[in-house]
Amino acid sequence: MAIAGIILAAGQGTRMKSAKPKVMHAIAGRPILGFVIAAMRAAGMERLVVVIAADAEEARRYAENEGAECVVQEPQLGTGHAANAARELFDGFDGTIVATYGDMPLVTRACFEASLAAREKTGLSLAAFRARDPAAYGRVILGSDGLLERIVEHKDASESERACDLCNAGIFAAEAKQFFRWTAALGNDNAQNEYYLTDVPKLARRDGVRCAVAVIDETDVMGVNSRAELASAEAQMQTRLRAAALADGVGMRDPETVYLAYDTMLEPDVHIQPFVVFGPGVVVRSGATICAFSHLEGAEVGRNAVVGPFGRLRPGTSLAEDVHIGNFVEVKNTRVGKGAKANHLSYLGDAAVGAGANIGAGTITCNYDGFDKHQTEIGAGAFIGSNTALVAPVRIGEGAYVGAGSTIAKDVSADALAVVRAEKVEKPGWAAKFRARKKADKAAERGTK
Ligand code: UD1
Ligand code: CA
Repeated sequence: MAIAGIILAAGQGTRMKSAKPKVMHAIAGRPILGFVIAAMRAAGMERLVVVIAADAEEARRYAENEGAECVVQEPQLGTGHAANAARELFDGFDGTIVATYGDMPLVTRACFEASLAAREKTGLSLAAFRARDPAAYGRVILGSDGLLERIVEHKDASESERACDLCNAGIFAAEAKQFFRWTAALGNDNAQNEYYLTDVPKLARRDGVRCAVAVIDETDVMGVNSRAELASAEAQMQTRLRAAALADGVGMRDPETVYLAYDTMLEPDVHIQPFVVFGPGVVVRSGATICAFSHLEGAEVGRNAVVGPFGRLRPGTSLAEDVHIGNFVEVKNTRVGKGAKANHLSYLGDAAVGAGANIGAGTITCNYDGFDKHQTEIGAGAFIGSNTALVAPVRIGEGAYVGAGSTIAKDVSADALAVVRAEKVEKPGWAAKFRARKKADKAAERGTK
C-alpha cells in the first residue's frame, strides 16, 4: 500500500531567535528539513508534503527542489492544525500517512520503519523514546497492555505525569482517511490553546482504534528548538559522520577536529590531518592527504594528491592525481592536471592548469574585471615564475616559461619565455656615495645648532 509523508515545518521557531525558518538552519551543510526528507524517502515514502508558513519562500524552494510538495499553514495554531492543513492534498488517497515534525535532523530510516511496523498491530502508531532529561517533551503514558493511554504535553502535565520519562518522538502513522478525520476533529482546550497533534490518539480511541507505541533511540529524534540544541545536534551528526568515515578506512589523527558535510565522500586510505573543514560536495580519492587547517567545498581531490596545510578549495575545483596544492593557495572553479603543483600563496580562479605545470609562489589569476569572470589556461608542463599576475582571458602555451614578477595580459606561445619586467639599471658605487653625503649633511646640521 502507498505510504505518504507529512512534515510539519511551519512553526515560527521563536526560540531560535532567527529570521530564517527553524527547519532551514543547517547541520553538516544541509538544512534540518533535508535530513527528514531523506530519511522518509529511504523508508519508502515517495510522496512528501511539507507544511510551511506563508512567508517561508526559502523553505518552499528547498522542499520543492527536493521533490516534495508544499502546503501553507496560516496562522500557525499548533501541530494538529498543521497536519490538518495537508488534508485536502490527500483527498482520495487511500494509503498510509506518516506525519512527523520537521525539526529532527538526526531521524533515520529505521525510526520510520519501526513506526510503520507498529502500525500493523493497530490502526495508529506513535514513536516514543526514553529521555535522559524529558524537559519540555510530551509525555507518553502507557496502559497495562503496553498500548498508549494518552500523550500529555509538558505544559499540561501534572507532577506525577512529568515524572514519566517516555516521551513523544513525533512520528504518527495511520490510514489516511482516518488520520484526517481525527486531525479535523481536534480541539484546542489546553494550556497553549493550540490544536495538538498529540490529541489524535484520544480521538482514535473514541473510534475504537488503539495506538501502538514504537520505542526508538533518543538521539535519533532529538528536536532542535534553540541554537544550543542546533549545536548539540551538529555535534551528534559529526560523531556519526566521523565514525562512518573511519569505518570506511579513512585515516584521521584527531577525528574530533575534522568537520564533515552530510555528503562528504572520502575513499579508503584518504588521510585527513587535524582541523579540516568540509563544506558540501567534496569527493577525495584514495591516497590523498588533506593537511591541517584546510577548507574544502564543492571540490574533487584526485588520487594521492596533497592539499594544505592551509589550503582552500572552492566550488568547481577538480584536482587530478598527484596534484599538490600548498599553503595559502586558493583554488576556485579550476581544473588542475595530473602532477601539477601550486605550493605557496596563490589564487587560481576560473582556470585550467595542464598536467605537470608548476605555479610559482604568489601567482594570481586576475579573473574578474568588476563585471565578468574570465578564463586562464596554463598549458601542460608550463612554468609560472613567482609573483606572476595572469590577466584573464589569457593563455600560456605548453612548456612555456613566465619570468618571475611578470604581469601577463597577452597569450604566451608554447615553449617560449615571457618576461614582463622593467630593465635593470645599475649605478656602481651610488649607495656608498649617497650614505656619505647624508652623513655629512646630518653632521653639518648638528654643528649649526
Ligand atoms: C512537539 C510535541 C511534543 C513532542 C516534541 C518532540 C505537540 C503538541 N508537541 O513539541 O509532544 O515531545 O514535539 O520533538 O505536537 N509546527 C507547525 N505548525 C504549528 C506548530 C508547529 O508546522 O502551528 C511544526 C514546527 O515547525 C516543528 C514541529 O511542528 O517542526 C514541532 O513543533 P514544536 O513547536 O517544535 O513542538 P514541540 O514544542 O517541540
Ligand atoms: Ca520541537
